[in-house]
Formats: sequence, C-alpha cells, structure tokens
Amino acid sequence: MGGVVIVGTQWGDEGKGKLVDLFTEEADCVVRYAGGPNAGHTLVVGTERIVVRLVPSGILRPNVRCILGQGMVVDATTFLGEIDELTKRGYECLSRLVLSDAAHLILPYHTLVDGLREAKPGGIGTTKRGVGPCYEDKIARRGVRVSLLRDPAKLRDVAKFALETWAPTILALGGKVPTLDEVLAPLASAAERLVPLIADTGREIHEALQRKQRVLFEGAQGTLLDIDHGTYPFVTSSSAAAGGACIGSGVGPRAIDRVVGLVKAYCTRVGDGPFPTELLEETGQRLRDIGREYGSVTGRPRRCGWLDLPALRYAARINGLDAFLLTKLDVLTGFEKVGVCTHYETERGRTDEWPGDGLSKVKPVIEMFPGWSESLSHARSINDLPSAARRYVEFIEAQLGVPALVVSVGERRDETIVRGSLFRN
Ligand code: GDP
Ligand code: IMO
Ligand code: MG
Repeated sequence: MGGVVIVGTQWGDEGKGKLVDLFTEEADCVVRYAGGPNAGHTLVVGTERIVVRLVPSGILRPNVRCILGQGMVVDATTFLGEIDELTKRGYECLSRLVLSDAAHLILPYHTLVDGLREAKPGGIGTTKRGVGPCYEDKIARRGVRVSLLRDPAKLRDVAKFALETWAPTILALGGKVPTLDEVLAPLASAAERLVPLIADTGREIHEALQRKQRVLFEGAQGTLLDIDHGTYPFVTSSSAAAGGACIGSGVGPRAIDRVVGLVKAYCTRVGDGPFPTELLEETGQRLRDIGREYGSVTGRPRRCGWLDLPALRYAARINGLDAFLLTKLDVLTGFEKVGVCTHYETERGRTDEWPGDGLSKVKPVIEMFPGWSESLSHARSINDLPSAARRYVEFIEAQLGVPALVVSVGERRDETIVRGSLFRN
C-alpha cells in the first residue's frame, strides 16, 4: 500500500482542508509537504469552524499522526498558537504532531521583508507571512532549520549571518533592522515546547509505509501557484504540485500510489497574476458572495471566475491525476447559465494547450452551460443531482479523462457525494 497525494489544481483554496479532514477517516498519517502559514485550510464539523495554517488538516481525527514535512516553512509562534487553540477546543494534538528536523523556521526578518516588499510597487500580493524570504534563505543555504532549536548557540550564529545579509535589503526598503536578540526572542520560549515534537520525519513516513499504513500527503496552495509550474512570478515559493510531496516529505516517487486533485467548480485567485476567466463585474461578485470567497488567512476578497479547462488539463498532466474531487458545486446553484473556458484564443490561433508565460495574453473561449436552481446540499449520490449539475460533472470528467471521486456540495463533512475510497486497498 502506498501514499495518496491530495493536491490543489488551481490557485489554492479549492477546499483541501475539508477533503483532507474527510478522508483522514481512512488514514493513519497525514503529511503536509509544502508551504507554511500562507495556507489557510478550513475544517467544518457541525457548527464548529477551524482554520489551520501549519497543522495538517487531519488533526481533528483522533489517533492520526500529523506530520509537518521538511518542505515546509514554520513560524513557531503561529504553530504553537494553533496547537493551543485546538487544545482549547478539545482536540488533543501534541502527542500526534511531528515536526521535521529539516523544515525551515520563519524568523521576524522574513516577515518584515515580505511586508516591506508588498508595501512597494512590484509586490505580487503575497500573504505577508515571511514565506518567500524564508525559502530564499533555504535556497541560499543560510536558513535556520528546525533541528537547530536543539543547538541554541549554532542557531544564533546562523540567524546572525542571515540577519546581516538581510540588513541592507531592510534598510533599502525603508525598514528598521531588528537586533539579533529581538529576532531570537520568540524562539526562546517556543524551543522548549517544539523540541519534543522534532523528528526525522522522512524515516517515520518510510516506516509507516513499510508497516502498510495509509499515508495521506496534504498539498497546500495549488498547482498554478507552484514555483516551477505555476504562473511565475505570481506564485508562491515552494513545490505545491504533487511532485513536491516526495521532495517535501522525504519519500521516493514509488511511495506514491495515487494522486487526487482538488477542483473547485469555478476558479478563484488571491493576489496578483494572470487569470483568464476572471469575472470582474456582477457575476464575479455573486460567486464571491455565495461562495464566501474571502481569504481564510488574510480576509482578502478572492478574485472569481469561471472554470478554466486548459488550466485544469495542464494541472492534470503536471500532477499525473488519477481522479479529482470537485468542490463547491452548490455555489453554482441559481446561475441561469454556468460558463466554462474550453479553449484560449492566442495570437497564433485557438488552442486548448497551456500557454506558459503567454497566459496573460490569452482570451478565454467560454461555453455557457444550462444552470440549475435546485439546492444541492442534500445530494448524497450523483443521481440526487439535478440533470444539469450532473452533466456539468460529467463534462469535466470527460475533459480531464479521470473520474470525480467526490462531489462536494457544502462545507460540512456530510455535505458530500463520495463515490469510492481514497486508498486503493
Ligand atoms: P483550502 O485552502 O483548499 O483548504 O480551502 P479554504 O479553506 O481556504 O477555502 C475553501 C472554503 O470553502 C472554506 O471556507 C470551506 O469551508 C468551503 N468549502 C469547502 N468545500 C465546500 C463546498 O463543497 N461547498 C461550499 N459551499 N463550501 C465549501
Ligand atoms: P491554501 O493552502 C490561495 C498566494 C498569495 C500570493 C502568492 C504568493 O490555503 O490554498 P506567498 O505568501 O505564498 O509568498 O504568496 O500565493 N497564496 C495563496 N493563495 N491559497 C493559498 O493557500 C495561498 N498561499 C499563497 O495570495 O498570490
Ligand atoms: Mg485556503
């Protein structure tokens, strides 16, 4: 038995939190492999709503180990705050959380630089959580890895070097350079609580797989925000696509048995960057209102638009999708017509291919489908859907060449049409 990757196929916020929480019922272990507190994954149980940013979305299920893999960047204060909040709500989590020794720590100069850059022209609309600058330090080989929490003297040296490197940038951006003591202050108390959680998580995952346990790899962000495969430079700084699950958790490609992509029934994007199907007027606002499309981390209004099939087919290819999980179909109820982009018009004619860096120049070719007026929230089988909604699902399946394993019709766990298991056996 191998691991299963759940990955976002669009620009994030596809509903990963809901589906990872749901399918954790089948899992022994959930692993976040990329990103950091830029993620906001919403879990709704009954009337309770929980947003996790660093803690894996499997945390609400007892007995499941939740691992923060080495591809992540971790803000210690945010992480501990989440643990405290979950504990307060009655979800015991300390005994089940494992933090990779090779993940990187976000320090105050990262957050400072991220914020200062965003305040200037040329910002790309980041979440300002220090994620990009932290990955910059990782790639430049001056990052502070989690393992250094066990060696405060060495940690101080590494952070001192990084701070000195960032100081001219901070000054040039009009900021005040913090002292090393200010930088390290939040870690002083955090280290004591974090050290017991640190482990060689790659080995843990490997051993879990050897014991035939079910490992669910939880993506953050989405394929179109991936540093290599996304709409560069309007991307995040990590490997969000399914391939990142190996790099970011320390397993080989053969450990992955199945890749399942989250597809929101329409598109959203937060931050800047090309978005061919964006609806700038009334219809976009209607999607935003009905879908409650406001950032779960920043509260920013999400840009909304119709489903983009060339982008989805690209994501299916990049991730090697075996199946997809369709979310928020209920949000389209009440639209007389539902649009889908089937092709792009480019300078060189019509194409259904991903145009790479040319995305900002394409014009979407939109096909309008008949809508439906019935509420979907009580649908528990595909046959419960009105025929127009069913045809919409079938059309996406045909276009992607893989089946919809789930159709989600509401934010709660039970508001879901589940058509099979996530794990193959
Ligand atoms: P994530 O980042 O991919 O985990 O997604 P977010 O949690 O940022 O945003 C998805 C939002 O949609 C959350 O508020 C979810 O509770 C909600 N949601 C998830 N699935 C559905 C669904 O099928 N229908 C509706 N109406 N809301 C959903
Ligand atoms: P989840 O996991 C949506 C976007 C930001 C910005 C770009 C770079 O909840 O789907 P960063 O702070 O990462 O340097 O910002 O990436 N972004 C997300 N958009 N959902 C997310 O996460 C995102 N994480 C980053 O808005 O455009
Ligand atoms: Mg989110």
